[in-house]
Amino acid sequence: MTTTSSLALPVLDAELAERLTQRLAEVEAALEEAIQSEAPFVTEAARHLMQAGGKRFRPLLVLLAAEAAKPGAGNDSHVVTSACVVELTHLASLYHDDVMDEAALRRGAPSANARWDNLVAILTGDWLFSKSSELTARLGADAVRIQAETFSRLVEGQILETLGPGDSDPLQHYLRVVEGKTGSLIATSARYGAIFGGCSAEIEQALTGYGELVGVAFQLSDDILDIASASDESGKTPGTDLREGVPTLPVLLARQLAQTSGDPADVRLLELLDADLTDDTLLAEALELLRAHPAMDQARIYVMELARQAAGLLEVLPQGPVRDALDAFADLIATRTS
Ligand code: IPE
Ligand code: IPE
Ligand code: MG
Ligand code: MG
Repeated sequence: MTTTSSLALPVLDAELAERLTQRLAEVEAALEEAIQSEAPFVTEAARHLMQAGGKRFRPLLVLLAAEAAKPGAGNDSHVVTSACVVELTHLASLYHDDVMDEAALRRGAPSANARWDNLVAILTGDWLFSKSSELTARLGADAVRIQAETFSRLVEGQILETLGPGDSDPLQHYLRVVEGKTGSLIATSARYGAIFGGCSAEIEQALTGYGELVGVAFQLSDDILDIASASDESGKTPGTDLREGVPTLPVLLARQLAQTSGDPADVRLLELLDADLTDDTLLAEALELLRAHPAMDQARIYVMELARQAAGLLEVLPQGPVRDALDAFADLIATRTS
């Protein structure tokens, strides 16, 4: 198998892997250029998380979706620019998200709010979003509209998460949040790739649907890892969702199962889930009970089913290395451990 160190995805076809790696390097260079500001501090604050790491899944998906078109059908420079646009939008959302979640660690580095303060984190996020918009303007009016719709869905998802489910069904609410805050941008990544790669309308639609499902699966597996990962191997602090009182899929499923089981461990778990988990000892106890809970496997099965549905949408694509790589991408997201 050919895997390249800079690709977060195993790609079996050597030529495709090589092309993706080269184009990702172009995206990196364009990202660095995009964060140049006349005010050196702005560049420093933006570069802080951009260079700290990150999987670059969204730009990779743009490049991969663009490969689904016939060679020469699209606009290579627009493909790279749109890959930059989605990463900058994502990065902007991370600066804001860490303020919302009071997170101290991001991409293995101190979050911007921890390194500086909330004000710097919020304004840098705003600035990154404006840079992303500037680049989008090069891609034409349709791309600008798609970008605007995507960002409003993303922010609405974040706001809905903050508001909580109220009287609505918590699981439905959670899925709505996830579709907005994460599904939207990953769907747009696949869509930009399809549009600027020069795919047919049918393939653009299939890839957009695929991106949305993969995006939801991606967030769900992130939420599982927030509980399951024992250390900060993800570059983030595990247990952040619980500490912040954000109920995620494993917690919602565990609550449902625990309500009727009568098991003393479940009684204790329900007590903890209603407690203030900013207390480190209580948080550790809740995490331990959840890690051993059957709800974790139920959640994993749910994610694998989403990935299967996503892969099913690829049937309109011709068989070949690109479809295989997109298949592998969905699979990787459902089974990832970091
Ligand atoms: C983190 O996204 C936020 C979620 C939607 C789960 P990533 O896991 O893609 O973060 P980076 O870019 O690799 O740091
Ligand atoms: C992140 O949600 C979604 C966005 C950044 C839009 P989370 O709060 O679950 O992501 P992490 O775990 O901090 O990366
Ligand atoms: Mg967060
Ligand atoms: Mg969050």
